[in-house]
Amino acid sequence: MKNSHISSLVFFYLLLVSVSSNLIQESCNKAAKLDPQTIKLDFCVSNFEGNPKAKSATTVSDLVEVSIEAAITNATSIGSIISKLLENKSLESFERDGLKNCSWLYSLAGTCLQGAGEAFKAKNYATAGVDIVASIEAPMNCEDQFKKKKGFVPPLTKENNIFFLLTDISRVFMTIAQKG
Ligand SMILES: *[C@@H]1O[C@H](CO)[C@@H](O)[C@H](O)[C@H]1NC(C)=O
Ligand SMILES: *[C@@H]1O[C@H](CO)[C@@H](O)[C@H](O)[C@H]1NC(C)=O
Ligand SMILES: *[C@@H]1O[C@H](CO)[C@@H](O)[C@H](O)[C@H]1NC(C)=O
Repeated sequence: MKNSHISSLVFFYLLLVSVSSNLIQESCNKAAKLDPQTIKLDFCVSNFEGNPKAKSATTVSDLVEVSIEAAITNATSIGSIISKLLENKSLESFERDGLKNCSWLYSLAGTCLQGAGEAFKAKNYATAGVDIVASIEAPMNCEDQFKKKKGFVPPLTKENNIFFLLTDISRVFMTIAQKG
């Protein structure tokens, strides 16, 4: 009796786990088809699979919220990385200015993502879309700060690329969630 109780619990748990990984797999599949240039299936799946909150998601809308939260956390950590870089006393002024601009861009992106998340929860999809697109621009604008000087190795390329992918996933998942 006890054993069968446990095994039905295990079964139920496995069922839940497989439902959520199917959700992740299927949604990432759709996303990779909608935006094949940016969204790679592997990155999309491993990004969500690595997030405990995504694993308990039951709808694409849940995944939108999870991905926005992850992007906000990312924006905050990138802000800390920039502050650390700015502690360097021997930065050239052009690099210092660029980093300061990036810091501003990422704090703005955090605010936009917050707005996008709230608008999305309120089913105000137009506003959510505008806010998410505004946040996607941050990494491109940040990267551009360092293009003025030929041969200079930009300091935030890796962070910019990942943040771009994360916010683009949020954008495309929003589209999928709306289509139902
Ligand atoms: C941003 O998120 C990605 C994917 O979750 C992670 O690999 C990366 O370390 C994060 N970057 C920062 C600066 O936290
Ligand atoms: C500080 O900035 C200079 C100029 O960009 C660079 O050469 C040096 O490696 C940096 N130092 C540290 C600790 O990052
Ligand atoms: C940073 O932004 C200011 C104001 O928008 C601009 O004048 C400056 O050129 C930017 N710095 C860099 C390094 O692009």
